[in-house]
Amino acid sequence: MTADKNYLTTSTGAPVGDNQNSLTAGQRGPVLIQDIHLLEKLAHFNRERVPERVVHAKGAGAHGYFDVTNDVSQYTKAAFLSEVGKRTPMFIRFSTVAGELGSADTVRDPRGFAVKFYTEEGNYDLVGNNTPVFFIRDAIKFPDFIHTQKRHPQTHLKNPNAVWDFWSLSPESLHQVTILMSDRGIPATLRHMHGFGSHTFKWVNEQGEGVWVKYHFKTEQGVRNLDPKLAAQIAGDNPDYHTEDLFRAIERGEFPAWKLYVQIMPLADADTYRFDPFDVTKVWSQKDYPLIEVGRMVLDRNPENYFAEVEQVTLSPGNFVPGIEASPDKMLQGRLFAYADAHRYRVGANHNALPINKPQCPVHNNQRDGAMRPDNNGGSGVYYEPNSFGGPTEAPQHRISAFPVTGNADSVAYDHNDHYTQAGDLYRLMSEPERAYLIDTIVGAMKPVERDDIKIRQIGHFYKADPEYGRRVAEGLGLPAPQGE
Ligand code: HEM
Repeated sequence: MTADKNYLTTSTGAPVGDNQNSLTAGQRGPVLIQDIHLLEKLAHFNRERVPERVVHAKGAGAHGYFDVTNDVSQYTKAAFLSEVGKRTPMFIRFSTVAGELGSADTVRDPRGFAVKFYTEEGNYDLVGNNTPVFFIRDAIKFPDFIHTQKRHPQTHLKNPNAVWDFWSLSPESLHQVTILMSDRGIPATLRHMHGFGSHTFKWVNEQGEGVWVKYHFKTEQGVRNLDPKLAAQIAGDNPDYHTEDLFRAIERGEFPAWKLYVQIMPLADADTYRFDPFDVTKVWSQKDYPLIEVGRMVLDRNPENYFAEVEQVTLSPGNFVPGIEASPDKMLQGRLFAYADAHRYRVGANHNALPINKPQCPVHNNQRDGAMRPDNNGGSGVYYEPNSFGGPTEAPQHRISAFPVTGNADSVAYDHNDHYTQAGDLYRLMSEPERAYLIDTIVGAMKPVERDDIKIRQIGHFYKADPEYGRRVAEGLGLPAPQGE
């Protein structure tokens, strides 16, 4: 029987008689349209690509598990965090931000750190970066910001003029720019970096009481970074260096691990804290809100298939579970829309039914049909709600926690504009070699900027963070430093 053998087949399962020679009319004759296998093979090949992610296109992923190591049930009712020792399967995708799918790993860029927890109450995604802050704090600026990181529409080259023009006109970026230009801007491997949820989120407990929360994943491998010259050489020799390192480490049985901590802020503190705690360009002081251990994440399994898992995984900051909710962070609010929209475009309306995205708990809803429905589409079951036929009903105990809103609907800016203290604190915390590295990197990155007014505007921001910071960049660029305090 054909079916018993490991025969090559067409996609409809028919055995392929010859996979080396096209069907031709005789020895020298043209190829026949009757060669269905050839036609299918060429046509499917033409359709192998889906759109790459508009940002974070280059990535590497792994499977693993998350164990709760500390009782946080007083803060959240999330079932997967409910008791010490509880284990939840997870998948992580690391990425660079600006480069295309085939771009080099060892570039200076934030790294995506996006985790999908397959919990019994649905998938919880924490789509963060390896930095605790971001360049901007309102989603309305994101497409413009990303344009400056991508290629020039005419030259198709990266464009330092746009990068520094935008940053110098968006001083809220200074904190993140300082981190990016520091030695942490090029991690040695994906295993040797921390991860952050970056935004503020809300945790809600069984009693319906909320707290604000920020997430920190601390690498157990230690933080290690790459020397920029070596990174540039590796980018040429092995552009997939980080991807390979992660895969080989897991293959060798060296399973990378991270401890998860949170900072917890009482809800009321948000009204009186010295800056808006929902501003993603700021970190909360760990003196004010110390780290509280939550659990441990271990990556112990490589993907079996890169496309099916790493490319098709769809991670969204909007994927919450009961006990974890959004905050009013304006960036986060924009992201709640952007990701699922990208997924419908990039993977399709039924992306959550693919094996890598499918919740590992029952899914009951009345979404039906759509392109490429891979499951039984709800079979013959009830397909609307409310109904009189015993279909799934809503769960009022899982309504989100109510929160008050006040004020006029308007295009409202954050009400504080100190973009300098935290960037300056970071500079002052650096050792002299770290400062020298930072200045060198910034000077190297700003040298190609063609207009002095852009450079001088940016030097002004460095100067406001710390006069020495500004003076040293000015000196390196051969431009005048600002005067006075
Ligand atoms: C990927 C939008 C800010 C981390 C993406 C994607 C979009 C996007 C459209 C591609 C999604 C896909 O095709 O699957 C935005 C918007 C932002 C924003 C509109 C601002 C409003 C941020 C911030 C962080 C972040 C602040 C981190 C704290 C990531 C990560 C990925 C990603 C890690 C890759 C996810 C994956 O591995 O599949 N972003 N982003 N983004 N973004 Fe953002």
